[in-house]
Amino acid sequence: MRYQGREVDIEGRVRLVMESTLTARDRVGVQDFVLLENHNSEAAFIENLRRRFRENLIYTYIGSVLVSVNPYKDLEIYSKPQMERYRGVSFYEISPHIYAVSDNTYRAMRTTWRDQCIFISGESGSGKTEASKKILLYYAVTCPTHDHMTTVGDRLLQSNPILEAFGNAKTLKNDNSSRFGKYMDVQFDFKGAPVGGHILNYLLEKSRVVHQNHGERNFHIFYQLLDGGDSDLLQMLHLERNPQNYQYLVKVRSLTALHLFKLRSRGVILNLLDQGSCSKVSSISDKNNWKVVMNALLVIGFNEEDMQNLLNIIASVLHLGNTQFGEGEEGETHITNETPIANVAKLLGVNASALGEALTHKKLTTKEEEVIIPLNFEQAVAARDALAKAVYGRTFTWLVEKINQSLALKDDMDHSNKAFPVIGLLDIYGFEVLQNNSFEQFCINYCSEKLQQLFIELTLRSEQEEYTTEGIAWEMVQYFDNKIICDLIEEKHKGIISILDEECMRPGETSDASFLEKLEDTFGSHPHFVTHKLANGKTRKVMSREEFRLLHYAGEVNYNVNGFLDKNNDSMNRNLKEVMCQSGNPIISHCFSREEVTDQKRPQMAATHFKNSLLKLLEILMTKEPSYVRCVKPNDAKQPGHFDEVLVRHQVRYLGLMENLRVRRAGFAYRRSFEAFLQRYKPLCPETWPKWDGRLEDGVATLVNHLGYQPEEYKLGRSKIFIRLPKTLFLTEDALQAKKPEIALTLQTSWRGYRERAKYKRIRHAIIVIQSAWRGMKGRRRAKRRRRAADLIRRFIKGFIYRHEDYCPENEYFLDHVRYSFLMKLSKNLPTSVLDKSWLASPPSLTEASEHLRKLNMRNMVQKYCNRIQSEWKNQMTQKVVASELFKDQKDNYPQSVGRLFLDTRIEREQINLKVLQTLDSDKVLYGVPVTKYDRRGFKPRPRQLLLSNTFAVLVDRTKIKQRIDYAALGGISVSSLSDGMVVLHMPPEDKKQKGDVLLHCNHVIELVTKLALIARMLNYINIKPGSIRYAGARGHEGIIDFIRGSELKVAKGKRGHLLVTVPRINNT
Ligand SMILES: Nc1ncnc2c1ncn2[C@@H]1O[C@H](COP(=O)(O)OP(=O)(O)OP(=O)(O)O)[C@@H](O)[C@H]1O
Ligand SMILES: [Mg+2]
Repeated sequence: MRYQGREVDIEGRVRLVMESTLTARDRVGVQDFVLLENHNSEAAFIENLRRRFRENLIYTYIGSVLVSVNPYKDLEIYSKPQMERYRGVSFYEISPHIYAVSDNTYRAMRTTWRDQCIFISGESGSGKTEASKKILLYYAVTCPTHDHMTTVGDRLLQSNPILEAFGNAKTLKNDNSSRFGKYMDVQFDFKGAPVGGHILNYLLEKSRVVHQNHGERNFHIFYQLLDGGDSDLLQMLHLERNPQNYQYLVKVRSLTALHLFKLRSRGVILNLLDQGSCSKVSSISDKNNWKVVMNALLVIGFNEEDMQNLLNIIASVLHLGNTQFGEGEEGETHITNETPIANVAKLLGVNASALGEALTHKKLTTKEEEVIIPLNFEQAVAARDALAKAVYGRTFTWLVEKINQSLALKDDMDHSNKAFPVIGLLDIYGFEVLQNNSFEQFCINYCSEKLQQLFIELTLRSEQEEYTTEGIAWEMVQYFDNKIICDLIEEKHKGIISILDEECMRPGETSDASFLEKLEDTFGSHPHFVTHKLANGKTRKVMSREEFRLLHYAGEVNYNVNGFLDKNNDSMNRNLKEVMCQSGNPIISHCFSREEVTDQKRPQMAATHFKNSLLKLLEILMTKEPSYVRCVKPNDAKQPGHFDEVLVRHQVRYLGLMENLRVRRAGFAYRRSFEAFLQRYKPLCPETWPKWDGRLEDGVATLVNHLGYQPEEYKLGRSKIFIRLPKTLFLTEDALQAKKPEIALTLQTSWRGYRERAKYKRIRHAIIVIQSAWRGMKGRRRAKRRRRAADLIRRFIKGFIYRHEDYCPENEYFLDHVRYSFLMKLSKNLPTSVLDKSWLASPPSLTEASEHLRKLNMRNMVQKYCNRIQSEWKNQMTQKVVASELFKDQKDNYPQSVGRLFLDTRIEREQINLKVLQTLDSDKVLYGVPVTKYDRRGFKPRPRQLLLSNTFAVLVDRTKIKQRIDYAALGGISVSSLSDGMVVLHMPPEDKKQKGDVLLHCNHVIELVTKLALIARMLNYINIKPGSIRYAGARGHEGIIDFIRGSELKVAKGKRGHLLVTVPRINNT
């Protein structure tokens, strides 16, 4: 089952309540019996219990009472997370659980600072002890721990295995049946930490020490000792491991055939092969439990000696059981086997013969003398058994005292510890109805009756208190008051117990039968008392003559009076007590006080003793706020999942659960705080949904008005609404279920809206964060840039101001920048050709460097240019350079020649006469050009070829060499400064073979003269004459060539025998 929603915490803040059983009540029943439609029907009650049990829901409430059905299997609902679920959560807000009761009690204790008590009752095997252990565990785990007392929780928990070992036994009904009633107080300090504890024990079933029913066992500790104790220990205790060797562990009370039949018919499984020796129980590991108990004794604070003394007593009981008696001829009794008695004497530190004597004789003290009377066989056996029971019973009480010492709030804790509140846990027998009910059942049922009385009183009181605090008029609750039965049992001088005591003490012949008669005489007309004699015919049939019937609040019970007197007497011979008083075992000597022996007063009878301690317990309980846990056993076979309706009905009756429910339902079936009610049902009214802003009671009033509640159906208190019938609540709940899809839709829509809004807000916030971070960064960057820019500008301006200074910090930036930018600009604007003379104007600081760079650049360009020139061009250039050196600005037609290439030759080899070529063979013709040769006299023009070789030049006509001119003999070369082609080769005058200078006209005069100057190496012998050139003629004559400007070129004989050369003007611009 799932529980959802919000819960109400201590401060009462509202959480959404999902009462799951309300929503799924058809399947799993209601989680509170108060909500049962037919609360008077036992069948409906059991059906609800069954439905829940089927779903493993073992807990159900009757108001604040928790009904628990023993699941006989581990349900995994006791884990730590489960504890956490119930912590701080109000009773009704979550599924019923033992932890809910534990937690509510704890919180009530803390908030009201009042003592609390949890009553746990139920039939044997219904789970009382388990419930009390769960409660203790809950406190040990969830409560804060006290700094100095961290082990109190541990000790409280550890007291359980000890008490269980000594006080629990396997019975037909329960493998671990508590054979005593237990009330335990847990004390808490102001922080809510457990700081102390106290245990009260009631009515230990001592008879079990000496005999057990078939299929049952003695107290666990005997088997644990024999199974778990090591060999040395057993040897020391004179014990053998086999339990079959001990009469007290194998002796069984014989069952009548009728008893066997009745037990079988109730589903009790008996192992008939196991004739009383039931030493092994499959669900119990004695060996392991032995270790647990020994460890627990250590935790509780037992020292070696205490343990030894305790074990000596346990062993002595076993030996005592083996003591056999024989009857002498005169009826006197004697002990037939001495070893057991010797062992007992050794283990208890008593005198063996005194003990033997005491077991076989009785000491009677009259006013005058002491008389010793031998016992008969039955009396001796009874004395032995009485001693065993007394020793064990008193040791058990001592053990509880010892545990109490260990749990007691330590003095160093002090801080007026009386103020510390307690939570009491009462694990006590519930109503018990067996086939044969004896003295014990009488006491147990009397206890139940008293507790029921207390329950009614407290429940009605709290009910009434609630009505008063809520301001609701008290309505009389109809219930059965069991005072009449309690009085029947306990009334002074008149009650059953008093009569029993009287019968025990009365001198003369008394017996169980006389006791029954006395009862009949006294209560003959009592409505709750019946005997065979008093009964009508029908009842008589089912009653034996030895029985009396009491009509308890929970039902009728027949008690067999057999053994009532003996059990009530519970006496032990005086001389046995005396022997025990002298015991060397400190536990025994503590348990058997000397005053007891000397005191002449009769000891209290068992029933009266029980009554008195019960009344004391009730006094304790009366002062506490009660909570109830009613345990139910689903079947007798200890089987999980099996729900025996007959058995459960029986318990529902005897636990008085219907009575519980009736009391609870006497007023209103359902009550809730306004807050919780409104929180759950507000969707059913438009005015309260989704939120009620006004006062809570107004909200509830509006809601119930809208729901159409009739005035008699409900009442509004101060803080709670009270609804009389479950039907009203169920209709409201059904309406809520029907409304749920709509609510779910609304919730879904608003949840989605909320989620999307939240998402949007998150994204928006994220965007704003990113945006502002980004803007911040951008702003910071911009500011940084601006700062840098301002800084730069400042430095720039400063630098500008100081620009004419030497390089210094003030102007370094500026100058560097100017230089850098100039150099960068320059690198992009360098001249690309040698002819390009442009150059960027440099800043003053870089003038020198600029010039340097310019030169470097030029040199670089030139170098690059030169590297690119091919050899013929180089040759060409050389010639052009020479021509430039010779003629630039000297001769008019030079500029025209610049643009024309000098050819290698103007006469191809084929154009030269072959003979001439052969003549010149050895001297290679380097250059040839057609020229016109003028006679020196008549100036007759003759076409010739001028061929230049390495060392001479020749003039050739068509067939032969006409003249050879050695360069070595050449005196000079003259040309005019005009644009004519006249060339005069000056021959040396002494050379007769040469008939004077040679006058030539050539159309390529610049080319010719350049090549000739180069080949003949006569660069310094070139004359450029303006106006006229003198030349030497034959035989010492001297001639002149005059140059004039004219319209066209004309070479002719001029005046005075000069050669007149008319030269056309050239426009050189
Ligand atoms: N809540 C539970 N979950 C699982 N098993 C349980 C639970 N309660 C009881 N039992 C089983 O039932 C057995 C009997 O329980 P328990 O000893 O508490 O009964 P009891 O009411 O104390 O009986 P008695 O009156 O004989 O002492 C346990 O040993 C355990 O096996
Ligand atoms: Mg128990």
